[in-house]
Amino acid sequence: MADTAETDAFVAFERVQKSYDGENLVVKDLNLSMPKGEFLTMLGPSGSGKTTCLMMLAGFETATYGEIKLDGVSINNIPPHKRGIGMVFQNYALFPHMTVAENLSFPLEVRKIGKSEREAKVKRALDMVQMGAFGGRRPAQMSGGQQQRIALARALVFEPELVLMDEPLGALDKQLRETLQFEITNLAHELGITVVYVTHDQTEALTMSDRVAVFDDGRIQQLAPPDELYEKPQNSFVAQFIGENNTLEGTVTKISGNHCEVRLDNGELIDALPVNVSAEGERTRVSIRPERVEFNKDRLQEGAHLLKAEVLEFIYMGDIFRTRLRVAGNEDFIIKTRNAPDQVRLEPGQQIEIGWLPEDCRALDAI
Ligand SMILES: Nc1ncnc2c1ncn2[C@@H]1O[C@H](COP(=O)(O)OP(=O)(O)OP(=O)(O)O)[C@@H](O)[C@H]1O
Ligand SMILES: [Mg+2]
Repeated sequence: MADTAETDAFVAFERVQKSYDGENLVVKDLNLSMPKGEFLTMLGPSGSGKTTCLMMLAGFETATYGEIKLDGVSINNIPPHKRGIGMVFQNYALFPHMTVAENLSFPLEVRKIGKSEREAKVKRALDMVQMGAFGGRRPAQMSGGQQQRIALARALVFEPELVLMDEPLGALDKQLRETLQFEITNLAHELGITVVYVTHDQTEALTMSDRVAVFDDGRIQQLAPPDELYEKPQNSFVAQFIGENNTLEGTVTKISGNHCEVRLDNGELIDALPVNVSAEGERTRVSIRPERVEFNKDRLQEGAHLLKAEVLEFIYMGDIFRTRLRVAGNEDFIIKTRNAPDQVRLEPGQQIEIGWLPEDCRALDAI
């Protein structure tokens, strides 16, 4: 990464490593830089190092190696309460013996803000999360969603420029989660705050974020805006982790420019875009999204290789049809087609041919 990008960054991790036991690295050479006002989500399986990164940024854990910078200044030696960062956790973490207003007032008292200003800020923060009437309640007298709104208000009350959220909606039901997802992103953009958000819910990550960092095994596997992550996964882990995906295994037989030919393990040939392969003879796993597979030959490029497929299951889903096929030995090959008046409904047992535009079929690393 260029040095200039890092100096302009509001939040920067530079070659950060973390080991808890002095032996195993749970965060491996993390480089990440975020501009001011960005909403970035860390997404990844359990144990991939997301919370650890957040804790290092907040100052509750120290990096074993590397540097973390805020607004161009190294914060490695600054204690958490002096970093000016707001935090929201999964389990609300409100003080149970305090009222809502007292909970919100606390971070202001710690910062030595006078009484009348405190009251004004608390009121403003409560109004922001539409909880103005709840100042006198205790946490136990509220629902989970209400408590989480208060936790959010408490993280915002001292007007931090950076807010960290670790699965803040994990304990809530689906509907409430969706409402709050919307409120959090709106609020963040309105206030111009920079947010680092952690989740292992990919829909949440894709819908809320400016960029998503996909974590696995202590490393960022890909860092990109949601559409790019879904449409242009750079490796097999990301292709598999984000959205629904079909994979076929084979060996590269021809490669030139942005086109390659792959011989699948059952002997058939297909066309693909070389993404993570560089030479003939290399093993690859090709990846193609269900909505990019065509069985209508008119929509395919001339000369495209076609594959034989057998329809195993046809599922009517209202807006789309989801069809499961057997393709090159893979019995879980899914295609999705839009429900339109002229759309063909496939029947189980039917033999068809499928194909795709080579740029929609990505030749990635073999796992
Ligand atoms: N305080 C700790 N002491 C020792 N090991 C830890 C500690 N905290 C986390 N780990 C280990 O570090 C690794 C990364 O954990 P981390 O909590 O960062 O993962 P995560 O991505 O947040 O996972 P989840 O989605 O389950 O919350 C895991 O293997 C975990 O067991
Ligand atoms: Mg975690």
